[in-house]
Amino acid sequence: MAENYTPAYTVPGIEREEAGRLIGLLRTRLHALNDLHLTLKHVHWNVVGPHFIAVHEMVDPQVDRVREMADDVAERIAALGGVAQGTPGVLVAERTWEDYSIGRADAIAHLGALDLVYAGVIEDLRAAVKVAGDIDTATEDLLIGQLRDLEKFQWFVRAHLESAGGALATAGARTEEEAADSAVS
Ligand SMILES: [Fe+2]
Repeated sequence: MAENYTPAYTVPGIEREEAGRLIGLLRTRLHALNDLHLTLKHVHWNVVGPHFIAVHEMVDPQVDRVREMADDVAERIAALGGVAQGTPGVLVAERTWEDYSIGRADAIAHLGALDLVYAGVIEDLRAAVKVAGDIDTATEDLLIGQLRDLEKFQWFVRAHLESAGGALATAGARTEEEAADSAVS
């Protein structure tokens, strides 16, 4: 059963129960973004090989933007009258995905795995945009802007995995390990 996040007050023009649905939705988005910027830093620290510097430096602006997205989501939760839950223990307890599984590895292998990470975050965010759109255009607008930027970052990643003919090396990969393997082979 879903938790009840109905706030004592919320923004004008939205029912408190509806705001509670939004707060629950944004809580998971905040976990996803906090998880993503930590994962991106982990990649920044653990890439090796001939593409080290390109990938090491490509990832940091993504970290900065994703941290900014987390801040915007957290502050939207607060504006709606809810609690922005930012502690790592709660993130791990409530997340519905596994920890990033690649340690020190070739830069392109990490990009293969990151393609899957971004695909998961983007798919869930796209679904959240639909739900938010039924309740609150301001939250919907915030999430749409984030969706566009995350899709751009996934394109940056995928451009390294794409052939001149347009085929993606990670096509059909179901796990991060599979995606990492197929990216370098
Ligand atoms: Fe650094």
